[in-house]
Amino acid sequence: MAVTEQRKAGLDVERIRADFPILSRTVGDKPLVYLDSAATSQKPRAVIDAEREFYERHNANVHRGIYMLSEEATELYEEARVKLASFIGATDPATVIFNRGTTESINAIAHGWGRKFLKEGDEILLTDMEHHSNIVPWQLAARATGATLRYLPITDDGLIDLSTLESSLTDRTKVFAVTGMSNSLGTLTPVHLLADAAHAVGAVLVVDGAQLVPHVPVDVRVLDCDFLTISGHKMLGPTASGGFYAKRELLEEMDPFIGGGHMIHEVYREYSTWNDVPGKFEGGTMNIAQEVGLAAAVDYLQALGMQNVRAHEEEIAAYAIERLQDAGARIVGPVDVSKRGGAVSFVYRDVHPHDVATVLNEEGIAVRAGHHCNQLVMRRFNVAATTRASFYVYNTRREVDALVNALGKADDVFGA
Ligand code: ALA
Repeated sequence: MAVTEQRKAGLDVERIRADFPILSRTVGDKPLVYLDSAATSQKPRAVIDAEREFYERHNANVHRGIYMLSEEATELYEEARVKLASFIGATDPATVIFNRGTTESINAIAHGWGRKFLKEGDEILLTDMEHHSNIVPWQLAARATGATLRYLPITDDGLIDLSTLESSLTDRTKVFAVTGMSNSLGTLTPVHLLADAAHAVGAVLVVDGAQLVPHVPVDVRVLDCDFLTISGHKMLGPTASGGFYAKRELLEEMDPFIGGGHMIHEVYREYSTWNDVPGKFEGGTMNIAQEVGLAAAVDYLQALGMQNVRAHEEEIAAYAIERLQDAGARIVGPVDVSKRGGAVSFVYRDVHPHDVATVLNEEGIAVRAGHHCNQLVMRRFNVAATTRASFYVYNTRREVDALVNALGKADDVFGA
């Protein structure tokens, strides 16, 4: 089917499933039902092939050798940057930095920008729904610089409490770091509005895009965020792919995070000067094959159409929420699907989430159970843990039915 026809028709999920070799696996004698894409997505054959072909035909280090393989590898690596930049609406590919993904990116930003520009008396604004990787790097930067951390709370229905935004964002705020979509609550945050608010007080807006970029059409020109992190492995790409986008002037003024080969211009005994952006941030041998694989994932998602991806996930999240609630589960996070993505956390009666996940695993169903690296969220909702089913382009209503039916087994085992 031509790409344009497919866009009109929405997602052909059965056809998509055939592209993912792992989805034909069984767990014991049960078909695998993979509902943990917020942790990591599965990979289509096109991505696996791109990575394998890189190693089979083009493998060499990039930006170093004056020989054919190295030139081919460099071309593929830089082509991946162009594709990822275009996927997020960045007009200058040099504003996309490659690294292992969101955790490394936020550390690079908190270190390279935060430690350079924060000082005592400055404030870093976060929210209570941040993943630990958007908290801990800022705690380290605050400790190193004397800056103070502040947090926006969460409403009972799982949204950022914007009633405190005005009093929390002041001329002391230098950084506002916020998730674009919560990995535990599923909440979509109003990034553009938050960018305007941050800019009004002269702060930079850092968006943790780990869960946003894979699931929603993203255009950094529209969002007007200053930094956006990208985890390739959550958007059908290989593990350790992705990186971050930043406005060019920020990349020019901040420090590098990793020192080593390629990221320098000149090295003297006492100091060094930096390579141009993006090389300044890509010290050492990079994750070349992974970024080449990610380029194939970008092609795959673009052929599906990100509007279709979003529409599919809204539809499947709505169905899952309705069926889970009917089965007696309590949703932790927004239930209005226009305000959320496809990561659906729930508490099932009084069965511990680890027990729920164990029973589901016996039925071939893979979910995540625990605090999801969101201990502040767990405390806010007064739970030790939740069970989380997270959906992507290859998930079906049939799989939601399998999840809900398997929950019934938890009743049998744990007498819920
Ligand atoms: N951040 C990933 C998750 O939510 C690992 O599961």
